[in-house]
Amino acid sequence: MTRLKSPTDILPVKLNKGYDMKPNHNLSAWGLESGSSGELVAAGCSTIDLAGRYGTPLHVVHERRLEDTARRFVTTAQAQYAGIVSVHYPFKCNSVPGVIEIIRRAGLKAEVMTQYELELALYLGFENKEIIVNGPCKTEEFIRKSIENRIGLLIVDSLEELVVIRRIADGMRTRPDILLRINPDYVPRGMNYGSATGSRKGCAFGLDLKSGEAGHALRLLQDSPGLGFKGFHFHIGTGIRDARDHADALSCLPLLVEEARRAGQMVQVVDVGGGIAATTTREFTSFEMLRYQALGTLPSRNDGRDEERCFANVTHAISHAVARAFPKGELPELIYEPGRCIASPNQFLLLTINGVKTRAGVGTWLIADGGLSTVTLPTYYEYHEVILANDVNRPLAEKATIIGPACFAGDVIYRNKFLPVIRKGEVIAIMDTGAYFTALESFFGFYQPAVVAVADGQARLIRARESFNGCIRRDVVSQHDTVKESVS
Ligand SMILES: Cc1ncc(COP(=O)(O)O)c(C=O)c1O
Repeated sequence: MTRLKSPTDILPVKLNKGYDMKPNHNLSAWGLESGSSGELVAAGCSTIDLAGRYGTPLHVVHERRLEDTARRFVTTAQAQYAGIVSVHYPFKCNSVPGVIEIIRRAGLKAEVMTQYELELALYLGFENKEIIVNGPCKTEEFIRKSIENRIGLLIVDSLEELVVIRRIADGMRTRPDILLRINPDYVPRGMNYGSATGSRKGCAFGLDLKSGEAGHALRLLQDSPGLGFKGFHFHIGTGIRDARDHADALSCLPLLVEEARRAGQMVQVVDVGGGIAATTTREFTSFEMLRYQALGTLPSRNDGRDEERCFANVTHAISHAVARAFPKGELPELIYEPGRCIASPNQFLLLTINGVKTRAGVGTWLIADGGLSTVTLPTYYEYHEVILANDVNRPLAEKATIIGPACFAGDVIYRNKFLPVIRKGEVIAIMDTGAYFTALESFFGFYQPAVVAVADGQARLIRARESFNGCIRRDVVSQHDTVKESVS
């Protein structure tokens, strides 16, 4: 019987002779270049200069590309649909205010799911009507604040929530416009039901279509003059690569529109949520995840797809699926909430390798100054390219494991990644960190990274590195009255 090898048995695999040793990063996929000394260059800025000037870990946002990607999404979606199209950026994806400001310049509105995000949207100058409030766990205070601020749309996640919103709105004599979030019981191709936010078995989100909750909600609304029904909301998962999934999940729409009509309601808005995959990275499939965790086999790279074509395919499929559900001339407003496909490719993370350990017969560990427990959580379930930022053309040499700085065995960025020989003090770039990296950072005793935006050869700081005072500010410590005063 063959004994299954443990991850440590197979850690250091030297490449076979004849393997193409050139790192085959297609830098242009991220709009990057190699500089005169072979270093990674973004918008005319040397990443090594940036790392020296701002320190690492450091997020670098490619400002013009981010704005261009966001604008491309809006114009492509509008070109595919005969009715009104609105695009709302989900703050949860990357809530760095400087990033949101760039995305907003492309004409995107806001989608928020917490009180902080609502306050941030107002602080950044979004008009109240430009804000959609969403989320499966809205507190009464958050609901009240949303209604008080006369936000554009309030999305109802459950029958219980609908009753609470109705009570609060009645007391306030303000009539919020609402969408009903539908759980269509749909699992996108290649996704397990636990990650499919539109699966009734895998996810609690939304009104359960199968058991008739949507019909029940529509009947409740007949008796709710304080609420303005506008239509339906869907969001079926994230990282979805096949345009057919977005369209297939909407196959319940004609029945819903009919049900609304029977309840005396007209559907004026269909919000299809987000979930469109980024073009330069991807989530592990369930099988890849199991294999990686059990055997340490890192899934292979993403091939990279054409952004314009991807946006066109998916918005074409969605536009048709929506239009099919309505009579000619009665098209509803179509809302998108894309996060990942806009933000992910236009940001990367610089980390310094602060130590290299090689253990005979075992392998090589590269110890980076940021890791899974601090700044790279999505590398646990997604494939991200890793580039040696100070020498992008150095040949690949071996499989190594990149770990973070925490004293915690699970602080692994990637196991068994084909890399060049990397030395202490060199800088790596983790690509595609624009979506769900800054949002999922955790402290664990390490200062959270700065974020710079680069454009036209200039860098500007849009988020400062966390400082001691910034961290201690919320704490009350007996011998420091000044701190106590600042939190009282
Ligand atoms: C309701 C809703 N809309 C939009 C998004 C954004 O998804 P993505 O970043 O995959 O586009 C999410 C992500 O969780 C979401 O829950």
